[in-house]
Amino acid sequence: MPILGLGTWKSAPGEVKKAVKEAIKIGYRHIDCASIYMNEREVGEAISESIKEGIVTRDELWITSKLWNNAHEKDRVIPALQKTLKDLQLDYLDLYLIHWPVAHKYETIMPRTKDDYFTESELSIPDTWEIMEEAVKIGLTRHIGVSNFGKKKLANLIANCTIIPEVNQVELNPYFQQDDLVEFCKLNDIHVTAYSPLGSNDRPKELKAENEPTLLEDKTLLKLADDKDISIAQLILSWIVSRDISVIPKSVNPARLKQNLTSADIKLFEADIKIIESINKNRRYVSGDFWDVENLWD
Ligand code: A2P
Repeated sequence: MPILGLGTWKSAPGEVKKAVKEAIKIGYRHIDCASIYMNEREVGEAISESIKEGIVTRDELWITSKLWNNAHEKDRVIPALQKTLKDLQLDYLDLYLIHWPVAHKYETIMPRTKDDYFTESELSIPDTWEIMEEAVKIGLTRHIGVSNFGKKKLANLIANCTIIPEVNQVELNPYFQQDDLVEFCKLNDIHVTAYSPLGSNDRPKELKAENEPTLLEDKTLLKLADDKDISIAQLILSWIVSRDISVIPKSVNPARLKQNLTSADIKLFEADIKIIESINKNRRYVSGDFWDVENLWD
């Protein structure tokens, strides 16, 4: 998996096609998608046009997508994946993830009441995982993994699967460094991908806490970035890459796309890393409190 990819969460229809085309043109080879981002058709147009124009081949690209929570039932996983493939205009994905350890009824895109959810005894993650494994066997995806899983949920899945989840995609940034989970994943041969690496300041208002700190305005990081003559975004992204964690910053801006891509080549000193480690707040931007689920992050 190319260590630095392009995130497409919050990239609006009308903008995302241009952003993905530009990203591929300047050298991005890893695009992170999800059906719930409601923009996979445009991402698909960008990929397909880039291939047709000879800018890239399918083999050179790494495309990730995610199974939404309303399609965890066994007979819904493959159709959901096929719909994503159709939208992305692809024959196969490189990686398919279970988006959240949350399962709700097909009729609801976002559950409103407790009744909208499946309980663990009605529909468990290992049930859904069986069909994720099937998707690998029939060639619809090369790799499978999960997103937003904590240690306990990963351990339970590992104990009840044939193919170990290859990736866990989670929020990770200097304010939420996730040392414990990263260590657990490394020990279990699970690669970590960091979402919201820049603090996702463009999240909708409903998903933001009051007075939340703005990562890209952190004074310690700004000073360090300034001293090194790089941007704060580049500092953050190069720190994540230095931990062997892949990272998917979102941008729809050509200059920022370019800046972010170059971050993978910036080398930090031990002393820089120590400074970044010192500002951990253990604080999530994506709190998950929009799910009415107990022990979500276990
Ligand atoms: P834009 O899309 O206009 O570039 P995250 O990846 O954590 O979700 O953060 C995405 C947010 O960070 C978006 O608002 C995006 O804006 C902004 N962003 C992306 N790259 C940079 C950068 N290099 N410098 C400043 N802001 C950036």
